[in-house]
Amino acid sequence: MLRHDILKQREAPPPVSLRLAKPADAGLLSMVGQATFLESYAGTLPVEDIVAHCATKHAPEVYKAWLEDGRTVTWLVEASHGGAPVGYLVMGTPDLPIKDPDPNDWEIRRIYLLSRFQGSGNGRRLMETCMRYAKASGCARVLLGVYSRNDQALRFYERMKFEKVGERMFRVGGSDYYDYILGRAP
Ligand SMILES: CC(C)(COP(=O)(O)OP(=O)(O)OC[C@H]1O[C@@H](n2cnc3c(N)ncnc32)[C@H](O)[C@@H]1OP(=O)(O)O)[C@@H](O)C(=O)NCCC(=O)NCCS
Repeated sequence: MLRHDILKQREAPPPVSLRLAKPADAGLLSMVGQATFLESYAGTLPVEDIVAHCATKHAPEVYKAWLEDGRTVTWLVEASHGGAPVGYLVMGTPDLPIKDPDPNDWEIRRIYLLSRFQGSGNGRRLMETCMRYAKASGCARVLLGVYSRNDQALRFYERMKFEKVGERMFRVGGSDYYDYILGRAP
């Protein structure tokens, strides 16, 4: 049985709410960013790369800069009971090596949920929220990079109607990983 089918058979996760993040949320985003990265790649990537990536790419300053730059939009998913962060999505101007860049391209930089909150529609809700926002803001195409061996995410993106438009090497810690670049109209 596929992992996603197993997730779907579990008891429904606790309810969550979704909201746009603000600069004061940098600490919460750093926490959920590191927690979801560790959970997603423990057992796949070497610990040195995970630690280095979390220290540099998930520091509160990284999120604070995004939250203040006026070109990046971030959503936070929080448990309705208690308010703990359980997921997030960051969308901004693309930093991707594609052949045909367009000024109206945007990039989903990150989309992550804690595993307990996966498999029950929260990913779709996050994706549809960001797509609505992108469309209303004049975005022509939403791009993203995904690790070529992240089968779970690839199936999710396929279901969300993304198609392959390129590839790149992505540095995590001291290693480079082969990613696909996917895209679709919002
Ligand atoms: C990718 C992720 C955000 C998807 O969120 P999710 O809550 O599990 O997805 P949903 O339950 O909303 O599923 C949405 C749709 O995709 C499908 N889908 C999701 N994962 C799937 C899988 N592994 N296999 C088959 N279908 C899948 C669902 O069946 C569902 O289809 P439907 O709405 O038509 O019924 C989440 O699994 C996650 O955080 N994964 C770990 C982090 C990660 O890899 N992020 C991407 C980095 S590039």
